[in-house]
Amino acid sequence: MSIEESGPFARETLGERLLAARWILLAGGLGLLVAVGQEVLATGPALLLGGVLFFAACLPAGRWRFRQPVAAALSRLREPPAPPPDRLAALVVALPEAALLLDHRGTVRAANARASGMLAAVRVGDPVSFAVRVPEVLEAIRAASADGKARRVEFSQRVPVDRWLRADIVPVTGPGTGGGRAEKVEALLLSFTDLTPQRRVEQMRVDFIANASHELRTPLASLSGFIETLQGPARNDATARERFLKIMAEQARRMSRLIDDLLSLSRIELNAHMRPQSRVDLGAAVGHVREALAPLGAERGVEIVFEQPAAPVLVQGDRDELIRVFENLVENALKYGASGERVEITLSRDGDDALVAIRDYGPGIAPEHVPRLTERFYRVDTAHSREQGGTGLGLAIVKHIVARHRGRLGIDSIPGDGSTFSVRLAALPAEVTKNDAKTMA
Ligand SMILES: Nc1ncnc2c1ncn2[C@@H]1O[C@H](COP(=O)(O)OP(=O)(O)OP(=O)(O)O)[C@@H](O)[C@H]1O
Ligand SMILES: [Mg+2]
Repeated sequence: MSIEESGPFARETLGERLLAARWILLAGGLGLLVAVGQEVLATGPALLLGGVLFFAACLPAGRWRFRQPVAAALSRLREPPAPPPDRLAALVVALPEAALLLDHRGTVRAANARASGMLAAVRVGDPVSFAVRVPEVLEAIRAASADGKARRVEFSQRVPVDRWLRADIVPVTGPGTGGGRAEKVEALLLSFTDLTPQRRVEQMRVDFIANASHELRTPLASLSGFIETLQGPARNDATARERFLKIMAEQARRMSRLIDDLLSLSRIELNAHMRPQSRVDLGAAVGHVREALAPLGAERGVEIVFEQPAAPVLVQGDRDELIRVFENLVENALKYGASGERVEITLSRDGDDALVAIRDYGPGIAPEHVPRLTERFYRVDTAHSREQGGTGLGLAIVKHIVARHRGRLGIDSIPGDGSTFSVRLAALPAEVTKNDAKTMA
């Protein structure tokens, strides 16, 4: 607000002032003319009086009313701003991260909802050390309060769950007392950033590279061993050569399967944001998998049963990828659940969803393994999986394909009673299905 714009300070132009005083000037002028005409006044004094009258008319009307508003405005300008802690407290409450406002002694002055959720013991008015028990953070708060410099501390917590956090301590300084004094710390802003997801991704990347190299190195070492043996001691042993070459071919197949799986995993991840567009008849896709795996079932002595509704069930998806999903799940059921001698595949509609469930009656999976099964290279029994030619990437691929189809993978297992792996996908509406059935017939 500028001073000139406010009411009492509005500027009048000279013309406006003369217009306002026109009747006084007219009457005064006429009076002076009459007085000169009647020789009551001499021309000189009459001119002087006229000049005074004109000058008075030119003066701004509210000149004397200026003093009071000017003083009020000046005093308003001189008023000290609202105390900073109140404003900072409002800022802290609005911050998206867990944040606390401390005074220079480390007493909590404000805490936002996130901070209260994260630090159960935090109370306004208590020392911050009641809520934050990390010595490095408390030391950084003390140091920042003493020298006014920002600090950053990264730390991990084991309880209640493993997590990594970063604390940022930013001092808020104000002018020091006395002329020429350095700025003093008035408050400290303590905020926490959760680094857990970032750290987990880093850890997974490191683990993935370590696992992939290990998985490749094992068959590679075996291949080099056999090559050396064939070049040396078994050079002239035809029976050994035959046996070793068979093992070498098997190891080479394993390596190429691993590389194929790694490549398809990265391809699926790359396209994760794009939902497949074509229409897939789930019954036909599962039927294809059942036929392809029938020889493996026969070899393991497992009967494969497939139940599906009379009406076709269609979903939006990629046929090859969905076949890959069911292949992996049925193959697992045949490999790890063979002792149950029966694998049931059920395709059904559940409301607007299509559901494919693969149930085996094998040994089942202990509950502690279930959440980790879809991790890359995770195997309950590594040696057993390797024996079966597994890479440990099957369920990771399944998970990514199902996610790309915006579906859900369910794993239910009772140790001793077998496992059920289910895939839930959004089914296309019945009308679309009927029309498709007609065109396909
Ligand atoms: N139906 C099942 N019953 C018992 N255990 C299972 C079953 N399905 C999977 N598992 C366990 O989960 C692990 C991971 O399975 P996944 O399909 O990811 O890898 P894999 O079968 O070992 O290798 P790949 O699928 O690449 O051949 C398996 O090693 C096995 O221990
Ligand atoms: Mg598998």
